Amino acid sequence: MKERMEAIKAKAFERIQNAKSIDDLNEIKTSILGKKGELTSVLKGMKDVAPEDRPKVGQMVNEARAAIEEFLAAETKELQAKVRAEKMKKEVIDVTLPAKKLKAGHRHPNQIALDDLERVFVGMGYEVVEGPEVEYDKYNFELLNIPANHPAKDEQDTFYITKDILLRTQTSPVQARVMETGRMPIRIISPGRVFRSDEVDATHSPSFHQVEGLVIDKGITMADLKGTIDQWAKEFFGPDTKTKFRPHHFPFTEPSAEADVTCFKCGGKGCRMCKGSGWIEILGCGMVHPKVLKDCGIDPDVYSGFAFGIGLERVTLLKYEIDDMRLLYENDERFLEQF
Ligand code: DAH
Repeated sequence: MKERMEAIKAKAFERIQNAKSIDDLNEIKTSILGKKGELTSVLKGMKDVAPEDRPKVGQMVNEARAAIEEFLAAETKELQAKVRAEKMKKEVIDVTLPAKKLKAGHRHPNQIALDDLERVFVGMGYEVVEGPEVEYDKYNFELLNIPANHPAKDEQDTFYITKDILLRTQTSPVQARVMETGRMPIRIISPGRVFRSDEVDATHSPSFHQVEGLVIDKGITMADLKGTIDQWAKEFFGPDTKTKFRPHHFPFTEPSAEADVTCFKCGGKGCRMCKGSGWIEILGCGMVHPKVLKDCGIDPDVYSGFAFGIGLERVTLLKYEIDDMRLLYENDERFLEQF
């Protein structure tokens, strides 16, 4: 009996020592000390032991049980410590690793050009005002001397909401809205989105931006208009820039003109950028038509003024030598990152 006990104990110790996990140890525990375990079965076989030997056998079993339990507890504790240590090692945080970078965007080229443009005009004392993108026919056309059936309405075909409400085709309606307030003098620019039912190509888009300008005061002349545009062009495109004004027609100005700047690529000699002419067209302008003044509640015998309309995309493309307007709208990071 004594040998059997020793054998059970030795085998148990060996198994415990070789256990690789807490699960292994639990299994060993049940297989030896559990209800159907080896040691328990010895106790169950006590009925076959001679009565006088029973206390001795009982003591032996209890001693073996205590020894195994003690060893098991010690090994369990050790293994638990090992598992915890390994887990800590695995979960360690390397505080020296570089952080995930948040990608910060930056201003769109259109916005950069607009900020530059605004800076120049604000420096000359202009106020920046905005008007609605969904506009009444009255402001977009009627008050700007473009009555129903006027051919200019066809040229600026747009998206109608109702017969009288439309997506504005130009920023010029802001002129009428500002004049209507009756606060004199007026010196404003008004940047914003405009809409026309144009097909998309390298120079057209159904939605683009304009910057309107309007000055009304006593004694304003064409010389003020020319001086203002010339000064802006020099600050915006570079100090060597020259301007020239060609007669043109707009219903809301009289006289009207288109302004060209000397090509800042070739300095006026003629190149691919200016198609050999040395000049680049940048805006429409003119002296506000007396009828427009009158219809907006301003006495044309007392006040006069000038207006201009700059195509924002046009000057952005020119300034950065971009040859396709679509690039401005595609939001391709490889393009946008260059500004
Ligand atoms: N609104 C005109 C257009 O879209 C541009 C323009 C021309 C605006 C002359 C003006 C102006 O204020 O005086 O073609």
